[in-house]
Amino acid sequence: MGQKSPNITIAVEVGVILDDLDSLSAKVWLSCINMALSDFYTGSHASSSTRVVLNVRDSKEDTVDAAAAALDLIKNTQVQAILGPKSSMQAKFVIDLGNKAQVPIISFSATNPSLTSIRSPYFYRAAQNDSSQVKAISAIIQAFGWREAVPIYVDNDYGEGIIPYLVDALQEVEARVPYRSVIHPEATEDQLDAELSKLMTMQTRVFIVHMLPSLGSRLFAKAREKGMMDEGYVWIMTNGLTNLLSTTNASVINSMQGALGVRTYVPRTEEYVDFRNRWKRQFQKKNPTIIDAELDVPALWAYDAAFALAMAVENVGTKNFGYEKANASTNSSNDLETIGISQNGPGLCKSLSGTKFRGFGGDFSFVDGQLQTSVFEMVNVFGDATKRIGFWTPRSGLVKKLNSKNTSDPYSTSKSNVGPIIWPGDSTSVPKGWEIPTDGKRLRVGVPVENGYPQFVKVVYDSSTNTTHVTGYVIDIFNAAMGQLKYNVAYDFFPFAKPDGTSAGTYDDLVHQVFLGNFDAVAADATIRANRSLYVDFTLPYTESGVVMVVPMKDRKGKSAWIFLKPLTLNLWLTSAFFFVFVGSVVWVLEHRINDEFRGPPAHQVGTVFWFSFSTMVFAQRERVIGNLARSVEIVWMFVVLILTQSYTASLTSLLTSQELQPTFTNILDLINNREYIGYKEGSFVRNLLIGRGVDPSKLRPYTSREECDVLLTNGSAKGGIAAAIDETPNIRLFLAKYCKKYTMIGPIFRTDGFGFVFPKGSPLVPDVSRAILVVKEGNETTDAENKWFAPEGTCSDTSPTISDSNSLGFDSFWSLFLIVGVSASLALLIFAVSFFNRHWHIFIATRGDSVWRRFMVMLRTFDQRDLSSHTFRKSSRSRDRETYNFGATAVEDSPDSYSTCPPSPASGLSDHPEILITAEGAHPRMGEQNRSEAQTSDRVPQQPGEILLTP
Ligand SMILES: *[C@@H]1O[C@H](CO)[C@@H](O)[C@H](O)[C@H]1NC(C)=O
Ligand SMILES: *[C@@H]1O[C@H](CO)[C@@H](O)[C@H](O)[C@H]1NC(C)=O
Ligand SMILES: *[C@@H]1O[C@H](CO)[C@@H](O)[C@H](O)[C@H]1NC(C)=O
Ligand SMILES: *[C@@H]1O[C@H](CO)[C@@H](O)[C@H](O)[C@H]1NC(C)=O
Ligand SMILES: *[C@@H]1O[C@H](CO)[C@@H](O)[C@H](O)[C@H]1NC(C)=O
Repeated sequence: MGQKSPNITIAVEVGVILDDLDSLSAKVWLSCINMALSDFYTGSHASSSTRVVLNVRDSKEDTVDAAAAALDLIKNTQVQAILGPKSSMQAKFVIDLGNKAQVPIISFSATNPSLTSIRSPYFYRAAQNDSSQVKAISAIIQAFGWREAVPIYVDNDYGEGIIPYLVDALQEVEARVPYRSVIHPEATEDQLDAELSKLMTMQTRVFIVHMLPSLGSRLFAKAREKGMMDEGYVWIMTNGLTNLLSTTNASVINSMQGALGVRTYVPRTEEYVDFRNRWKRQFQKKNPTIIDAELDVPALWAYDAAFALAMAVENVGTKNFGYEKANASTNSSNDLETIGISQNGPGLCKSLSGTKFRGFGGDFSFVDGQLQTSVFEMVNVFGDATKRIGFWTPRSGLVKKLNSKNTSDPYSTSKSNVGPIIWPGDSTSVPKGWEIPTDGKRLRVGVPVENGYPQFVKVVYDSSTNTTHVTGYVIDIFNAAMGQLKYNVAYDFFPFAKPDGTSAGTYDDLVHQVFLGNFDAVAADATIRANRSLYVDFTLPYTESGVVMVVPMKDRKGKSAWIFLKPLTLNLWLTSAFFFVFVGSVVWVLEHRINDEFRGPPAHQVGTVFWFSFSTMVFAQRERVIGNLARSVEIVWMFVVLILTQSYTASLTSLLTSQELQPTFTNILDLINNREYIGYKEGSFVRNLLIGRGVDPSKLRPYTSREECDVLLTNGSAKGGIAAAIDETPNIRLFLAKYCKKYTMIGPIFRTDGFGFVFPKGSPLVPDVSRAILVVKEGNETTDAENKWFAPEGTCSDTSPTISDSNSLGFDSFWSLFLIVGVSASLALLIFAVSFFNRHWHIFIATRGDSVWRRFMVMLRTFDQRDLSSHTFRKSSRSRDRETYNFGATAVEDSPDSYSTCPPSPASGLSDHPEILITAEGAHPRMGEQNRSEAQTSDRVPQQPGEILLTP
């Protein structure tokens, strides 16, 4: 027929299996399929030679009915393909049938991922499988930092299919699934109520709902009734619910306020809007009684599936659309055994696999029979509708906007990529995802009895009221931390004791009770240890960490005969000594020409220099300094010496009066090498640490209380005691609060993590309590509790001694003083030198032509002479003249001048220029009486500008 006229087309029978044809969704989907075909045959493919003819069957929401419908379609109608069925349960058998008869089954609503595992080449899924959205859900969980989530799903193939994938995805973001809530598809109100009540008593508050709207709407209504749509709860819907929200009625949406949803993303393109309008008009015309019908996502998939099928059928062409009869040999009355095989099946499959076009959900193509689109839209149910809060793509994770540019962005699950969310209970604050169940039990907090340090925990049983009172530092900190939590946690303390009140075990046993579930927490002075943390979770430490050693102190005062050297450092001693000599020398240089006290034989002069300088140390210098330059140097120097001696005195005083206490041992190795006994607290893990460090177990002695420890330490190793006690820092602090004077703390010698509270592994309380501990530690509560429980006792109330390593004064503290002295002395020297050369320049001039050495010697000799022009000599020489006349002997006192280094000789250059010196005092009788050589030297040197130098 087709060959005669191209307008004549071949009808291709195609089956459609839908649930409940009277239902709105079936009508919507069917209308979409019809529109797809009419769009295909009236649009660009108007000339196609085939026409798909639909054979619609109702599967009545039943698996067997769906199978029967499929069998009927294959056997009797001999369809080339089947669109549908609706649900994953129905699909399973229909796929098998299609496989046997080689009839492609194209489902647009069966989303169970396990359907792929049937591995039928004749199964096509024109829908996203459920597992493609689990990463989107886990991304939300990760973004908000929830650590636990409870899936609530319907108990059938559809519900279960997603669970393994969901659990894996949650595990990947380190969220636990503490419980899975399975709900029967036909659950009664009572069953829903019971299940939700159960969820309420659990601490997880994040629920992932995976079911279809029929059950989901009832669940949410019930949850709302029970107050589970209030603040603190998180509801996340899979696309099973969210995709159909647009067709869900308003009262159901009202009960979902605040829920989040993951929805297949349908770009709102022009084609889409156009299609939606056309579809609305047509649907309205056909179903005048139904108003407000809306397109949902499966309807679009149905449209795309029908379009793809029509395209594939056209591509296969007008070949043989017949069936091969079942083998005649099979002689059975059973329908299933006698179905034929579609001749065109493989061809149609090939054609379908190659189909590619732009559908409403993006590019439409099958890869291994699966639709390849997986962009999801995150929505928040708010008011009457849903509000988009972001997208999820497999490549970029959570993103605010979809565009091709951010494809290079790394995968991100940042909260900032999600728009503002109104959570259940109209709250804008992100729920923390868990709650201490309000109607549940109170926390059972275990506390130790008999721990040796009642300051930490003390349990007192009051038999009159049958109650136990628990007090102590640890309890105060625990209460303070729990009080810091943003929510109320009710708890009771339970002593870890036998019925008779004695301890029921060690700290390890106590901590293990949490693992066993007998306690919900432990508040004890329990150290955070690696082996304990295998079974429980610790909070951050609330005390100082580390294991330290306490040893007796001995006074080292009196031991040292050299303590007088201690106040100054060696550097400072050396520097001071140098400056004493230096200043002495400078003063000598400045003075010896004008001051008789600095004159005399060389040895005497050297002695004077040292004597003078060192006697300034005690301000006992006898020599009077008369030159202004020397005075200025000396006065600066005196000032420095004053400061130095005062500092020295103060330092020495403090050294002598303060107790110079010294620990007897500073190193655990010394203890081990000396084979001293070491104490540890009975039952403490420190014993094992010490043995691990190489301590001989026989050298270990336990103690049970502070007092006993003190006695043992006092006795010392030799008398059955111990040389040192090793314990955790808080315990030792407590010990030193009582015995601070005798002992000192050394260490830490082992690193441990301090005391922490114990909670079961994975407890959501741990991070919050840890945070609370930090707040408590930074606030005043810890100090208050420390003052309350660890207050220094007895003689320790005053400040405890601190062992200062060295309080010697160093050069660092005084260098500026020395700098001042150095500068002033150098300046004085410079001025002296300049004025000296200025005044004696003529000698230099006069000796021009002599060797450098000789000229230098002349200057030196000049320098060595008295400066007779000095007023001191004018005055003192007069007085000495008197002395000379009167006593005669005084002239010898300091002027033998036999030390003159350069006695005049005929060969000397001096004699080449015999000079006659007539000074103002020329007629002075001194000339005659003075020692000859002195006169020789002095009379060659003009002393004042006014002097006349006569040369022959
Ligand atoms: C029949 O086909 C021809 C060309 O293929 C076309 O021009 C004509 O309009 C068609 N007639 C009908 C009734 O579709
Ligand atoms: C589900 O769909 C995703 C994306 O389309 C795909 O990667 C995955 O393999 C599918 N899973 C199954 C079980 O078909
Ligand atoms: C009929 O039998 C032949 C050979 O025994 C086999 O190749 C063919 O596939 C069978 N057909 C059907 C419909 O079972
Ligand atoms: C098939 O059944 C018919 C009667 O129902 C019988 O006559 C025939 O022999 C059977 N053939 C085979 C191969 O069993
Ligand atoms: C004391 O209280 C506990 C429970 O708190 C109870 O089991 C016990 O019987 C009481 N003992 C007496 C003597 O009342």
